[in-house]
Amino acid sequence: MKELKSYELREKYLKFFEANGHKIIPSASLIPENDPSVLFTTAGMHPLVPYLLGQKHPDGTRLTDVQKCVRTGDIDEVGDETHCTFFEMLGNWSLGDYFKKESITFSFKFLTEVLEIPVEKLAVTVFAGDEDCARDEFAAKTWADLGIKNICYLPKENNWWYAGATGPCGSDTEIFVDNGKPAKCENSNPGNDPDKWVEIWNNVFMEFFRTKDGKFEPLKQKNVDTGMGLERTICMINGLKSVYDTDLYSDVIAKICELSGAKYGEDKETTRAIRIIADHIRTSTFLMGDERGIVPSNVDQGYVLRRLIRRSVRFARQINLDSKQLVTISKMFIDKYKAYYPELAMNENKVLDELAKEEEKFSKTLENGIKEIEKVLKFVQGDTLNGKTAFRLYDTFGFPIEMTKEICAEKGFKVDMEGYKEAEEKHQKLSQMGAEQKFKGGLADSSEQTTFLHTATHLLLGSLQKLLSKDIHQKGSNITAERLRFDFNFDRPLTEEEKKMIEDNVNKAIQEDVQVICEEMTVDQAREAGAEGVFGSKYGDIVKVYTIPGYDKEICGGPHATHTGQLGEFKIIKEQSSSAGIRRIKAVIDTSKAKK
Ligand code: SER
Repeated sequence: MKELKSYELREKYLKFFEANGHKIIPSASLIPENDPSVLFTTAGMHPLVPYLLGQKHPDGTRLTDVQKCVRTGDIDEVGDETHCTFFEMLGNWSLGDYFKKESITFSFKFLTEVLEIPVEKLAVTVFAGDEDCARDEFAAKTWADLGIKNICYLPKENNWWYAGATGPCGSDTEIFVDNGKPAKCENSNPGNDPDKWVEIWNNVFMEFFRTKDGKFEPLKQKNVDTGMGLERTICMINGLKSVYDTDLYSDVIAKICELSGAKYGEDKETTRAIRIIADHIRTSTFLMGDERGIVPSNVDQGYVLRRLIRRSVRFARQINLDSKQLVTISKMFIDKYKAYYPELAMNENKVLDELAKEEEKFSKTLENGIKEIEKVLKFVQGDTLNGKTAFRLYDTFGFPIEMTKEICAEKGFKVDMEGYKEAEEKHQKLSQMGAEQKFKGGLADSSEQTTFLHTATHLLLGSLQKLLSKDIHQKGSNITAERLRFDFNFDRPLTEEEKKMIEDNVNKAIQEDVQVICEEMTVDQAREAGAEGVFGSKYGDIVKVYTIPGYDKEICGGPHATHTGQLGEFKIIKEQSSSAGIRRIKAVIDTSKAKK
């Protein structure tokens, strides 16, 4: 296989699908808009859910893109050969356009003709069939006709893709490349020899909707959703051992070594620490530099970001890298990626400032934690620090257990790790319950209630701009089935009177039962029409503009109420500070008051 750089793969992929009738769309934000069910965009299809469910996409029925994704579920695996918390997903979609045959043929041609991967290096898996959906003989035959010999059938656990607890889903066919390791058995295939076969691409045939009670109902349209991991594919094509050896990381890793004196590859622990720093700083850079960028905090996305930065500081100390240099690493990533993700350059100062602030804060925490441990150890009877206290040091002071163990060891103490694990498990159970709560809504929850709350959010912004200041803009939005939460720039609390005025204005719009108009236009036309939007961020060529005449006009993907009367009654339940210069409003609607 020919040597391939990451930028070449991005370009070749988009060009190939463009030549086959696909419209190139920009990457969506890493922070999902109006989707309470997930913290981050985890796959290319995620921002496209409404279109997979049948809404018309302004760019047509064939789309392709490179999507920024963050998955932190496997954070503890980061540091091995393949796991990253941030990655880019190359994707192509058919929204009720082509289906299995064309999708498989496109993938085959791209891999064998454009990337010139020899056919015998490829293997595929297809769905084995069960009571919900038949065995996918069609996909298998299509692959076989194209010349693929290594085909195996696997069950739902392997060959079915769910967008969330509820939502669009379907069987898939996964494509694997041989990494050259000796076969473990006869007829080695991805099912029986996973060390040899590395998955690079997943073509999902989304034709079902999984309902709350676990049923699979046919969707209005048959879609294709594919996702190819950029890092992994580059790694495989270039015959590399690890994604960290690709051009997406190699110069950053060299820099970490230069700055710290550590040697990459010398021993497992050092190599792992270097990879973790590189991975976590890349993800943090993208999260803070996103068009809807976040900052470290103690809740939701901000908490994940905080954890990533703090882990980087800790692993920096482990390899004697001055943690102030994390900013240098972040800057390298900004320079490396800004041509594809201009938001990183636009937000460079914010990214570097926030990173420096968090690094400083945590370095202090570490110092305080060290003092605290010393204090605690004075009271320890015997030679073992109890697990509960060790966990409290972590939970309250953010003080990592590895460091507690290290310092204790220096002073001749052990740590009761069993007790620590018990305390940790208890805590995890509690936070897991929180996470499950979050997941309950299903992905891209487009229920009537959330749709109407989305429209209420537009009316709220329009009212804030009209009654308080035209310089107010959206700084964050989160909608659950119960309430809307809206963040906006304003430098003081709202008075009771102001809140009442805003509420009244939204309710006036509801009373007037104004039609919600959706139009498609170019970004320039939207701007000229005075639509609210984050200009300078990346929209597609054609955007949707939702207008509530007399109240609001915004670029937005929807979905929305068709007329404002559907909202019933609007009520602000809380107005508070969110962060410096940002206020937060929580509000509810009572649709039972809607005029029939
Ligand atoms: N949604 C599928 C995945 O993430 C294909 O894009 O693997």
